[in-house]
Amino acid sequence: MALEKRVLTGITTSGVPHLGNLAGAILPAIEASRHQFTSSFLFLADYHSLIKSQDPAMTHNSSFEIAASWLACGLDPNKVTFYRQSDIPEIMELAWILSCVTAKGLMNRAHAYKAATAINKEKEVPDLDKGVLMGLFNYPILMAADILAFNADQVPVGGDQKQHLEMARDIAARFNYLYGEVFKLPEAVINSETGVLPGIDGQKMSKSYNNTIPIFLNKESLLKMIKKIKTNSLEPGIPKDSNNCTIFKLYKAFASEGQIQDLEVRYQKGIGWGEAKDILYSELESKIEPIRERYELIRHDKRHLEHILIEGAVKAREVSSKIISDVREAVGIKGFC
Ligand code: ADP
Ligand code: TRP
Repeated sequence: MALEKRVLTGITTSGVPHLGNLAGAILPAIEASRHQFTSSFLFLADYHSLIKSQDPAMTHNSSFEIAASWLACGLDPNKVTFYRQSDIPEIMELAWILSCVTAKGLMNRAHAYKAATAINKEKEVPDLDKGVLMGLFNYPILMAADILAFNADQVPVGGDQKQHLEMARDIAARFNYLYGEVFKLPEAVINSETGVLPGIDGQKMSKSYNNTIPIFLNKESLLKMIKKIKTNSLEPGIPKDSNNCTIFKLYKAFASEGQIQDLEVRYQKGIGWGEAKDILYSELESKIEPIRERYELIRHDKRHLEHILIEGAVKAREVSSKIISDVREAVGIKGFC
């Protein structure tokens, strides 16, 4: 029998889930969880959200919205281990232990930290660390702990997370070198097919850029949002390039092969932007409508969702408590008899 692969991924609970999260993370992770010989660990990275936001209501709401999105999109809690990071104390314990084998120099090279110091440099602030919190600096260690606490084999993430996976491997290898083979070296799985979905302004759709299309807008707001997508000023009747078009890229992430080809032909024939937006809206609405209905049901039964997460944490801790006990043993933290 083939050995089961452990696949793990998380979403930071720092905002309203959007179509980029849906196409780039939620749907592929659910799809992967249905494969044979896979055990999936999907979680809400709520402690990570404190790095970006110190707004308790936002952190709390986002956590709920992202959990409800996973379930509405078809995550089966009987097949997947689905939990909140903050319900797994082993992760925080491991984060400390890992920080004791991680060179500060490695963290100095992390993209998020370097970006923060680069802004200070540009503004000619004398202290390049001004405004940098330890949470941001330590972020790759917490992420390594999320992964290593479950000895995950594969971690599906967006391209922006590649460096964090390399760091998790470096940290695991360093620990193994010092204390013996406790950790597997996790492998990043970067979904290049979906690529990066653009937001309504054409740059990467991201909570940080204020350009997202949230998954759970009502019909009218979804249409309004789609009408806001930036286009060029080519008139109807003039052939249009589908390659560099936000509307087309969004359509491509959700429509079937045949539908994509049809729209491509209409671009060549000079479709008007209003019509292209209507086609995108119909496609998105047909995909989102059933999810929206399930989302509303979940929203009105918070107890059920809470119960699923608590049960998920119990299941998750069966794995993480065994691993942390191997880690403690390896570093010499244990009872006397
Ligand atoms: P954001 O940039 O909005 O803060 P996150 O960093 O929380 O998004 O991303 C959560 C997951 O969603 C990651 O796996 C990430 O790669 C994926 N994701 C985020 N934005 C996009 C996008 N525009 N296109 C494709 N995937 C995305
Ligand atoms: N840092 C990831 C992001 O912003 C979210 C995340 C936290 C994660 N811990 C993780 C992803 C562990 C995969 C594995 O997208």
